[in-house]
Amino acid sequence: MLSRITGLVFLVLVLGVDGLGVNWGTMANHKLPPKAVVQMLKDNGINKVKLFDADATTMSALAGSGIEVMLAIPNADLSAMTTYSRAKDWVRRNVTRYNFQGGVTIKYVAVGNEPFLTSYNNSFVNTTFPALQNIQNALNEAGYGDSIKATVPLNADVYASPESNPVPSAGRFRPDILPQMTQIVQFLNHNKAPFTINIYPFLSLYANEHFPLDYAFFDGVPNPIADNAIQYTNVFDANFDTLVSSLKALGFGDMEIIVGEVGWPTDGDRNANNNYALRFYRGLLPRLAANKGTPLRPGYIEVYLFGLLDEDIKSVAPGNFERHWGIFKYDGQPKFFMDLSGQLQDKYLVGAQNVNYLPNKWCMLKPDAKDLSQLGDNINFACTWSDCTALGYGSSCNGLDANGNASYAFNMYFQAMNQKDTACFFKGLAVITDQNISQPNCVFPIQIAATSSSSKHTPSLLLLLIIFFISIALPFSR
Ligand SMILES: *[C@@H]1O[C@H](CO)[C@@H](O)[C@H](O)[C@H]1NC(C)=O
Ligand SMILES: *[C@@H]1O[C@H](CO)[C@@H](O)[C@H](O)[C@H]1NC(C)=O
Ligand SMILES: *[C@@H]1O[C@H](CO)[C@@H](O)[C@H](O)[C@H]1NC(C)=O
Ligand SMILES: *[C@@H]1O[C@H](CO)[C@@H](O)[C@H](O)[C@H]1NC(C)=O
Ligand SMILES: *[C@@H]1O[C@H](CO)[C@@H](O)[C@H](O)[C@H]1NC(C)=O
Repeated sequence: MLSRITGLVFLVLVLGVDGLGVNWGTMANHKLPPKAVVQMLKDNGINKVKLFDADATTMSALAGSGIEVMLAIPNADLSAMTTYSRAKDWVRRNVTRYNFQGGVTIKYVAVGNEPFLTSYNNSFVNTTFPALQNIQNALNEAGYGDSIKATVPLNADVYASPESNPVPSAGRFRPDILPQMTQIVQFLNHNKAPFTINIYPFLSLYANEHFPLDYAFFDGVPNPIADNAIQYTNVFDANFDTLVSSLKALGFGDMEIIVGEVGWPTDGDRNANNNYALRFYRGLLPRLAANKGTPLRPGYIEVYLFGLLDEDIKSVAPGNFERHWGIFKYDGQPKFFMDLSGQLQDKYLVGAQNVNYLPNKWCMLKPDAKDLSQLGDNINFACTWSDCTALGYGSSCNGLDANGNASYAFNMYFQAMNQKDTACFFKGLAVITDQNISQPNCVFPIQIAATSSSSKHTPSLLLLLIIFFISIALPFSR
């Protein structure tokens, strides 16, 4: 009996967290303190995290946590990494530095982020492979070759099936980057490093209004895609297996594959909302927990959800939804039920603890504002310097009237500027209120208080003053 219970407990633990990671992006106007984020990861049993850089404050917060880390070299630094000495230096400064008792458990270095996206116009097509090569070789030279692998998180548009035979088994890498992909795959194989792919069923839906909605989820479809003996009922499996086939065509059908990003946004588009995100994760998480894999790759897949937190200064070039991928809101509070153990319990993840907010003050359009001729310009200004993506078509605040729009924009700017009095003026059109002016389904947020940056500076200023006084006092005490 006891062993059955321990067996069960063990099973639950294994099902719960084995392999499930999250992407921790930090493109936010007001960041949660990294320590609070790490605590939140621990509180939810998340033991793998993927970063988009190797930022020292993030890394220090992760030190000693035991959380496994994939750190990253941004695309902009790829060309520098084509010089071996620079790559060695990068490894010394961003990897070796954290290799001590109580340091950071680094498992992977992501070289670039989706560098072959067609929208990048081949900007990184000639630098990605040399950078990968240099980073892994530098890791090997530093003695980490067995424990730390370099990989390149790629976008799912690096491969496709021909239009004439749109099935996963016909998958091939894009002809224009086939030489680069071949080099990369051979090199990864040689170093026993995994292939990393980002898969976004949401983007399939976003890109094509005729895309069958149900196919983006995991609940079954009336017309599966028949591929030889396999029936594909969701685009995640189909996409993943298209990659498996592309690798197989190069002779590496068994290469390990990591899903670097997968998730569903909750605002900024008609298909981005909590209900769909809930539906998506309720399909995905039980499959991952049960190590279901895909038809061509049954078994465990290492997966990183995208993302941890909403990021309100992310580029919206791909779409307004970009700032709303978090499984947590900007302030580390959960958005919808999520059971990482895959058991579909209706419970929330544990939110960030002890979050400090700015005071309960909002900025709104003056109810008695008369001359509205400059309202449009002022809204544009506010939205240029803050995040108004919730106002767009299909988004949570799209139902506001023109006055509501103005208040929303003014408040977002006011919060972004730390509620500075002067940030709620707008040529006399705006006024501060202590009433919560949120509307049904449209929250007018209060930002989190700027983190330690000010309190970090105060002690050092104090220290400087003390040093100053000691130094002027010294001659007298001698
Ligand atoms: C690597 O470390 C250096 C030195 O701390 C830092 O300046 C640099 O930003 C780090 N690289 C990345 C990609 O974060
Ligand atoms: C790629 O090219 C298009 C068209 O020439 C241009 O509009 C776009 O800004 C370019 N993107 C990048 C990242 O260079
Ligand atoms: C990449 O290298 C090839 C071959 O040397 C060259 O033809 C191409 O212009 C380069 N592309 C870019 C974007 O630098
Ligand atoms: C509010 O702003 C959004 C986004 O700019 C716009 O689509 C919408 O039409 C505006 N609504 C009104 C009533 O002006
Ligand atoms: C304001 O009201 C909204 C909607 O009821 C709520 O979600 C939000 O938490 C409230 N904000 C504050 C600071 O109380």
